Amino acid sequence: MKLILLGAPGAGKGTQAEVICEELKIPAISTGNIIREAVKNGTPMGAKAKTYMEKGALVPDDVVIGIIKERLVQDDCKGGFILDGFPRTVPQAEALDAMGVAIDRVVEISVPDEAIEKRLGGRRVCGSCGSSYHMEHKPPKQEGVCDKCGGELILRKDDQPETIRDRLKVYHDQTEPLKDFYQGKGILRVVDGQAGIENTTKQVLAALEA
Ligand code: AP5
Repeated sequence: MKLILLGAPGAGKGTQAEVICEELKIPAISTGNIIREAVKNGTPMGAKAKTYMEKGALVPDDVVIGIIKERLVQDDCKGGFILDGFPRTVPQAEALDAMGVAIDRVVEISVPDEAIEKRLGGRRVCGSCGSSYHMEHKPPKQEGVCDKCGGELILRKDDQPETIRDRLKVYHDQTEPLKDFYQGKGILRVVDGQAGIENTTKQVLAALEA
């Protein structure tokens, strides 16, 4: 299964990718996590990406396409993968096609903007391993501490209200055209991302068969 999870910032792509990769035993690849790690480690790519990311803009296509090209040739991707946050523009989707990657399913997790703005205010992520929590919908066992690695839970820089609005605009302008792109290939399915985390997982898994 080569799966793309599509959806607005905060729609729940990362949350679903984490569960579904366990279920399907394939890796989940998040370009956002790869870029955040590069920023944290101060690599040249991270330095280039940081300013775009912090203001809620997209990192240039050539940088992100380069990341994906390197990642998809690794051995663990041979049996399939989940892409979380890639592609995000039509040129990125075309680059996947040009690499000869045949995507089986694109699942859009649909959540209205008003719900996204509310939801992202409650998100906390682990500063060490990047795991994502929600103060109301997915709280950690101990407040402020990551269940997986014990790291400190923080608010992402791009989860400030103004930046969230900018990211939503970028999503509508640059990423939503992908819906038509994949609808045209007959592989797009849409699920309700407001149904609660477990119900959304059930819908995503059903969409893989439909
Ligand atoms: P990225 O990290 O990909 O951010 P994003 O797409 O904005 O997505 P998020 O991580 O914010 O949200 P999500 O959909 O994964 O939601 P989550 O599961 O965490 O990218 C960040 C930046 O990197 C971009 O702005 C850009 O600069 C750059 N970048 C990355 N990829 C790029 C690309 N391809 N091209 C160019 N630039 C790129 O859930 C959110 C919250 O909601 C959590 O707290 C969660 O617990 C909760 N939640 C999840 N599901 C539910 C539910 N069903 N009900 C209630 N709460 C829920």
